[in-house]
Amino acid sequence: MTESRSRVWLARPLFADISGRLDEHFDVIRSEPAGERYTSQEIAAHLTNAHGALVTLVERIGAAEIATASKLRAVANVAVGYDNLDIPALGERGIVVTNTPDVLTETTADLGFALLLAAARRITEAERWLREGQWRSWSFDTLLGHDLHGSTLGILGMGRIGQGIARRATGFGMRTLYHNRTRLPEAVERDCRARHVGFAELLVQADHLLLALPYSPQTRHIIDAAALARMKPTATLVNIARGGIVDELALADALAHGRLAAAGLDVYEGEPAVRPELLALRNVVLTPHIASASLGTRRAMVSLAVDNLIAALGCGPRAGRPPNVVNPGFIGNRPGA
Ligand code: GLV
Repeated sequence: MTESRSRVWLARPLFADISGRLDEHFDVIRSEPAGERYTSQEIAAHLTNAHGALVTLVERIGAAEIATASKLRAVANVAVGYDNLDIPALGERGIVVTNTPDVLTETTADLGFALLLAAARRITEAERWLREGQWRSWSFDTLLGHDLHGSTLGILGMGRIGQGIARRATGFGMRTLYHNRTRLPEAVERDCRARHVGFAELLVQADHLLLALPYSPQTRHIIDAAALARMKPTATLVNIARGGIVDELALADALAHGRLAAAGLDVYEGEPAVRPELLALRNVVLTPHIASASLGTRRAMVSLAVDNLIAALGCGPRAGRPPNVVNPGFIGNRPGA
């Protein structure tokens, strides 16, 4: 009698040469949403008979989506953030959740720095102005921005990506302050040349503030009107974490009324929708959630998610020991490990 193979749902067509490794171990159900996203009902239907799922950050899975998924044992997220997954609900049902840290750290830090430079030095605004044919003569005070060198960089959230930003800042001659729930070991602070300060001090001191913290109910709108009011009117704000961390209406208001110089945003609370109040502003650089989007890194993320799923479902060389488990109580690495 042949042993029946586990069934795995592959929610998006992700690099067939890499995701094809799943076929060596499982019966793979491949699908694509009809529109931009699956409905909750579609996700539930795909999970009903699946033992595992490989999903991206736009597939939201919680109690409703797993209600009929009695066989589901593992969900591998192709992202470092996992706020799309209801960890307590999945954990309660014994479903292992994994993510893809490390492989995207440097690429994401690069994009954070690109947004910082673009916003502070008004690069996209300048290009639009030039293309609109507004450059009629050279003038001394056209499009004056703010320097990175010699300035103070504030980093909110000093995990792997925040540390990558801090290491880049040393090359730009910046002084780095950071705020994190827990202070980093001294050796890491020395390596990053970064000093831990309180949240309020970070807001007040930063010439440029970069957000690299996980999204949770506790961090939702942590950058609100009150936080923005503490920042320097010459400051730049960059968000490469999750849109919900910033109160976008308060941000748009501060940018429109000269209480903040510029912003660079890669993430939005209602993405892919971007608030018209932000779209109307020239002093904000907007990118469509592409921080980890280099070919090499996106391939590495898929590869890691495939490894995680194979191991979580008891196959391959790491059977039972997936490298990147995020829900507490399971074996494997913990978030931030
Ligand atoms: C991207 O936003 C990720 O969490 O990997």
